Amino acid sequence: MTKAEITELKNGNNGELGKYLNPVNDTKTLYFTLDKLGRLPENFDGKYFIPLCKHPIEKIRLLAVKNIGKLCDEKYLTQLEEISISDDSTMVRREAISSIGRMRNKNVIPILIKRLKDSDPKIVLQAIRGLLVFNENNLVVTELKKLINHPNEVIKNVIEKEYFDQSNSEYNGDHCKSPDYLKNVVVNGDVLEVLKIVPNESIHLTFTSPPYYNARDYSIYQSYDEYLEFLRDVFKEVHRITKEGRFFILNTSPIIIPRVSRQHSSKRYPIPFDIHPFLIEMGWEFIDDIVWVKPEFSAKDRNSSFRQHRKPLAYKPTAVTEYLMVYRKKTHKLIDWNIRQYDYKTVQESKVLGEIDQINTWNIDPTFDKTHTAVFPMELCLRVIKYYSFKNDLVFDPFGGSGTFSKAAQSLDRFFFTTEISDKYFERIKENIGQNAFFNADFPNKYYSFQEFYKIIEVNK
Ligand SMILES: C[S@@+](CC[C@H](N)C(=O)[O-])C[C@H]1O[C@@H](n2cnc3c(N)ncnc32)[C@H](O)[C@@H]1O
Repeated sequence: MTKAEITELKNGNNGELGKYLNPVNDTKTLYFTLDKLGRLPENFDGKYFIPLCKHPIEKIRLLAVKNIGKLCDEKYLTQLEEISISDDSTMVRREAISSIGRMRNKNVIPILIKRLKDSDPKIVLQAIRGLLVFNENNLVVTELKKLINHPNEVIKNVIEKEYFDQSNSEYNGDHCKSPDYLKNVVVNGDVLEVLKIVPNESIHLTFTSPPYYNARDYSIYQSYDEYLEFLRDVFKEVHRITKEGRFFILNTSPIIIPRVSRQHSSKRYPIPFDIHPFLIEMGWEFIDDIVWVKPEFSAKDRNSSFRQHRKPLAYKPTAVTEYLMVYRKKTHKLIDWNIRQYDYKTVQESKVLGEIDQINTWNIDPTFDKTHTAVFPMELCLRVIKYYSFKNDLVFDPFGGSGTFSKAAQSLDRFFFTTEISDKYFERIKENIGQNAFFNADFPNKYYSFQEFYKIIEVNK
């Protein structure tokens, strides 16, 4: 049978269709017929679907229930409720709830309210969906509000957004603005000290590569715990100064601290995985993991001894990747809300044209700098800025290094703000990005000591 024949049958003699929907038919015929029925004509008799709701094959039951749902007919309410409680399959039960919800009739309210107590969160969510249609009904609102204490985080989030979110979701003129005195500014100082005096919600995007624990000479911490504690403090401040719903992209990778002698083993520290839990706890929402892949020749070979002896357990792959962990400042607002804060022209001019990265591995060669030991490749910064910010946004790197991110930002008509503790690297940034008045004469690059920056903040308070 073809789809066209099914269409003809459903619009004509229902009885004829019954032949194809007879439960004794083979699964293929049943599936094809149920699947191709499409929109059903008014007054279509759903009696042939009923026996199929007990079919041993889950996908047949699912389609039968789905087709009953299309009829939006109250006479199937008891049947659907029974399925929503007792079918073995979550998918079928959910479809039954969805079909009940589609009726949009007050009689479904008590049935859906009962399902809010279901032990399966997917069923509860489907019942919530059906009930949200009756948002004027006091009983519905009272029952839904109770779910704010539900153990499932998705359910809690939905209820919070619907009933407890105080924030205004309309246009907020301040969202695309940022303080002028932070634009194109480099501060030579400890990021923690500097950020303490930066106002809330000042910046649009942060991209950074923090110090590598004690793997390089510029990063000396007493212990790994002290190092993590330091990063936690910095990223908490970054969260505070980030605008609602905007992004934080963290470039890290596990690092290795070499062994003390042949009698000891080297130690590997899974930095991104250790940082992740506290980022979530402080209010960053995990969005994506992008893997930066470098060519094999650029990484330190870790296989040499294994290649010779080939004994299990001693295998150590050469690490050619680093993570770009993508987070968003937690909010109930959708990305669309963020985009709507910008005018038409800015959105048009910020569009990411040409080739785009469609998968989460980015192949980019590393870069070497004459002064700094670990710099971002320009290409990496350009991609992050294009994908995660708009023209004229203020973007931030707390660990400025040689200033690659700031330079990239300026080349894409974004403003930058960065901090760097080392005098040597502060000088390198000056050399790297210079005055650059060319890009924006109103905001030439400024280089401040912490004391100078402090005064600027005081003046602008
Ligand atoms: C991995 S490097 C960043 C390199 C940079 N992404 C680039 O492209 O050049 C980390 C930088 O953080 C700086 N740093 C370390 N602790 C700091 C602190 N407390 N405040 C500000 N900068 C710090 C280091 O001096 C180092 O230059």
